[in-house]
Amino acid sequence: MVKIAHISDLHLSGKQDRRQLDEFDRMLAHFNTVGFDHLVISGDLSNSADPADWEIVREKLRSHALYRWEKTTVIAGNHDMTNLEEEMRFYNALNPLPGVRRKAFNRKIVHFCSFFQELITGEERGDKAFPFVKIINYPSVKIAIVALNSVYPWYPADNPLGARGVINPGQLKALTPANVVSSLKECFVIGLCHHAYKVYGTDSLIDQAFDWTMELKNREEFLAVMKTLQAKLVLHGHFHRFQTYTVSGINFINGGSFRYTPECYSELIIEGKESFRQSFISL
Ligand SMILES: [Fe+2]
Ligand SMILES: [Fe+2]
Repeated sequence: MVKIAHISDLHLSGKQDRRQLDEFDRMLAHFNTVGFDHLVISGDLSNSADPADWEIVREKLRSHALYRWEKTTVIAGNHDMTNLEEEMRFYNALNPLPGVRRKAFNRKIVHFCSFFQELITGEERGDKAFPFVKIINYPSVKIAIVALNSVYPWYPADNPLGARGVINPGQLKALTPANVVSSLKECFVIGLCHHAYKVYGTDSLIDQAFDWTMELKNREEFLAVMKTLQAKLVLHGHFHRFQTYTVSGINFINGGSFRYTPECYSELIIEGKESFRQSFISL
């Protein structure tokens, strides 16, 4: 039996918010008390794309002995990549070419990955980035975490809030060669990205008008890759809601938001290659 804890959307905003940092300490201490094999944090560590917030996460994980490749996996969310105000100011002042902005965005993704490299490759230095696959051999089952970046750069018309997601074709292509697919055959495969497959829909027209600004644009392509890899689960965040849903036999788990519900997390118990249990736990 393998136990995985999943939290998301911390939206840290510096060291001033003592209460939130204490709550984070309390949660990490709880994970150690209960005894989890692995922790997944599915993006939006920072609220304003500030690496100082990533540093807080790194320090806290270190102080709870969780800053290790086999213990924790983190990915970036849109709030780790894009500070909307800064982005708009930069755009309005300089009107930079799309290529320049694309490069700046790619640099930030690489920055995130090299910052957390020990949790990606297990090495202290390096710049390996998305997608990455982490295979951990537990006595009872082999777990593969397949992590993709779904954050898409801010564009005035296509991504006005910076919250829309895309998984670029290069990442999807990197995961589907026959040797990758066959190396995952023996594993319990868990997909991981920040954005949701299911757009949060209500009947309200106002909600519907906003849905597209939050959606994962190429979710069907992403789903097809998850099916090819025979993923059992996909973990994500972004919508700040604790929810589960099934699409084409794959179970999606939204890890909610630690920022807004700091006493709640998702617990996964994997009992073997074919079976798992999931529940949302409240401290
Ligand atoms: Fe978020
Ligand atoms: Fe987000």
